Amino acid sequence: MDWKPDKSLQIPVYIQISNYIETRILNGEYPSGSSLPSERALAQELDVNRSTIVAAYDQLRSLGLVNRIKGFGTVVTLAATVDGDIKRVPNWDEYVKGGFLHLNNPMTRQIHKSVGSDKPYINFAIGELSADLFPAVLMQKAHNQLDMSQYLGYEHIQGNLRLRESIANHLQTYRNLSSTASSLLVTSGAQQALQLIVQCLLKPGDSVAIEDPSYSYSLPIFHSAGLRTYLLPVEQDGIDPEQIVSLYKQHRIKMVFVNPIYQNPTGATLTSERMKILLEISTKYGIAIVEDDPYSLTSYDQTPVSVLKSMDQDGSVLYVSSLSKIISSGLRIGWIAGPQSVIHRLTDAKQQMDFGQSNYSQWIAAQLLSSAELDNHLMRLRIGLERKLHLTINALRAELGDDVQFDAPRGGIHLWCKLEGEWDEQQLFNQAIENGVVIAPGSTLGSKSGCVRLTFSKVDDPLIRPGIQKFAEAYRAVKHRR
Ligand SMILES: Cc1ncc(COP(=O)(O)O)c(C=O)c1O
Repeated sequence: MDWKPDKSLQIPVYIQISNYIETRILNGEYPSGSSLPSERALAQELDVNRSTIVAAYDQLRSLGLVNRIKGFGTVVTLAATVDGDIKRVPNWDEYVKGGFLHLNNPMTRQIHKSVGSDKPYINFAIGELSADLFPAVLMQKAHNQLDMSQYLGYEHIQGNLRLRESIANHLQTYRNLSSTASSLLVTSGAQQALQLIVQCLLKPGDSVAIEDPSYSYSLPIFHSAGLRTYLLPVEQDGIDPEQIVSLYKQHRIKMVFVNPIYQNPTGATLTSERMKILLEISTKYGIAIVEDDPYSLTSYDQTPVSVLKSMDQDGSVLYVSSLSKIISSGLRIGWIAGPQSVIHRLTDAKQQMDFGQSNYSQWIAAQLLSSAELDNHLMRLRIGLERKLHLTINALRAELGDDVQFDAPRGGIHLWCKLEGEWDEQQLFNQAIENGVVIAPGSTLGSKSGCVRLTFSKVDDPLIRPGIQKFAEAYRAVKHRR
């Protein structure tokens, strides 16, 4: 090789080498399937370090030109067409390693995969309702009553006006919370509201506090956005707000994410005393609070629980909720209530992301929220959820006795269980899947203490006992097997 890299140039040497070899490959000097010189030989020939050649070959691999095969070295992967042209296929494996959104935890990915699977898993891992708890008749009625002559173009990005008015009325009636159509943004579930908050109101390096364990912990959005997360342990009465003060003093916490009522996964509810202290701390130190509230309408005793936002006199709380856990997760209707400046900022981002929510699901949601039959549906839902909880608890007691510990929640859809003894989480997860049942291992939600989350809302009543039986068998099989 006569050519040598020019070390006096601004272009890094490894890029020069990669460019040079790329040209030779495209010229057909190294045909598909041929091997490039070994790293050592080329380093000697070009008078550079071997690590420079490694970097150059890595660059060629990321361009989709070569593969590095153990035992064979670096092999050209370009395919020539019949007429001799060279085809350069994008290296999708490299693309998928890029991108700024981190991947979900592998077990979380497997849980989501189980949902679309052909196998009839009994699913205690997905937070949605079983078919009998969805308001199918109400939904059909709402659909029949729709006036299809409504405007069919893009909706108002902030959300259909009638829907926002219905949400404002609903919040007043059911959650004692004052809002107006202009202080609400309709989102694709609570999930998108959380995404928008993270992306628009925080910047890389900012510190936030999240509950441990929590749904927030399961989301890669915080770390993808370069945020530092600090954990607030969840006790029976929710988080201890005083811990936020020390986190603030040490790390200048900018925002606290809480799911105060029937928390996912523990089922804990923040007491009203703790809510008051949390709000005092927030206004004393100027720390924003995000209240994520998908579950407050699911109290089994049918009495409403006060949401944090209803006590917020100073505007410190951004309130996030959705219809997913009370009406339909597939409708993808959520919302955020907050100050105008925040709503405008997030609306602008939502326009960039998806041009606003589907008008059809917004019309249906508006119809459902203003229906006189909603109340009956909610009552039926709460009774159904409590029944599923009791079926789950009875099955656990019968199958696992004292090997399982939990605090029964007073609302919501999750049962947080601690399993006795020595067992490996991954083994339990795999064995449960093999037995035909899916569970959410505690670590996917941030727990380090031998816990699993059993979400009972999606499982049909007659399948709860057999599902718990399969889970108990999996636990017995992996206990002590380490
Ligand atoms: C606490 C919490 N927040 C947000 C979500 C997201 O729900 P969705 O986007 O369906 O409203 C969930 C879903 O399980 C949840 O448990």
